[in-house]
Amino acid sequence: MPAIYATAPGKAILFGEHAVVYGYPAIAVPVLQVQAKVVALPNLSGPKGEITLDAPDIGLHADLEKLPGNHPLALAVHQTLATMGVERSPAVILRITSTIPVAAGLGSGAAVSVALIRALSSFLGKPLNDSQVCAAAFEVEKTYHGNPSGIDNTVVTYAQPVYFVRGQPPCPMRVARPFTLIIGDTGVPSPTVAAVTDVRDRWLAERERYEALFSEIGKLANRARPTIEEGQLEELGALMDENQAKLEQLGVSSPELDRLIQAARQGGAQGAKLSGAGIGGNMIALAPAEKSAQVEAALQMAGAVRTIVSVVHSVEKHEPD
Ligand code: PMV
Repeated sequence: MPAIYATAPGKAILFGEHAVVYGYPAIAVPVLQVQAKVVALPNLSGPKGEITLDAPDIGLHADLEKLPGNHPLALAVHQTLATMGVERSPAVILRITSTIPVAAGLGSGAAVSVALIRALSSFLGKPLNDSQVCAAAFEVEKTYHGNPSGIDNTVVTYAQPVYFVRGQPPCPMRVARPFTLIIGDTGVPSPTVAAVTDVRDRWLAERERYEALFSEIGKLANRARPTIEEGQLEELGALMDENQAKLEQLGVSSPELDRLIQAARQGGAQGAKLSGAGIGGNMIALAPAEKSAQVEAALQMAGAVRTIVSVVHSVEKHEPD
């Protein structure tokens, strides 16, 4: 059995975070500059059934059975075996590495799950298809994040821009004219579950107000879809700014995010907003390609701990199965 590896990209949410949890549409894109990678190495000296997880980045080296049952890596392994109907795998070491910042709104958890599910199922000789991978990763997200919409595991699995509504099949998007995003990291960790729980508590306390905000955010995603698919990028930046204003009203922005968003706009971006759960994590800015270096410099001057320039384009790929 040869060593097998699989990768999965990071992601950014262009429109609709948080509202997507409540059934409103959202748009997300893969960020191919960062990725999770899982190598499945046969362990020729190990007993059948022994699965070792080796994640040097987080100082983890442990047998599956020693990990708590709700550990996300253990969950991803169990989901894979259950989906495949395999009870005991040949001994294998799963080496997990990732360049995606953790708890930063870039889909790190979903990418690790997707890469692991792909690597392990390929190692076992029957690679799961995209829709099985996506479903298995969603189960991991559910245990780990409480009430995920499914957008992270979807965009990371299909690695292409998607228009997404919770519970519906994802719609891959055609990008008529490639556009450039500059991603800036506040360096403030923001676990998704905390932000999603905060928003839920506020929604429960003031249902009408929050439903109205979610609905307006959903309308922005619906307005953004044709601008991307038809290449009217002039409008896209303004829609991002409008989405950011709504996210501020939801209470998920922060001084650090506001500072980077302001700096990007002053540095020549056409629009900017937080991306993902908010509170900390990353923001994204839209800029003409020739201004991306200028916007990146403005973000660094304003305290971004890391910047990524990512061009969003169509991906020639099969339709989701
Ligand atoms: O995992 P994050 O931080 O990118 O957040 C995902 C987007 C949310 O809408 C906040 C949560 C969800 O499940 O859709």
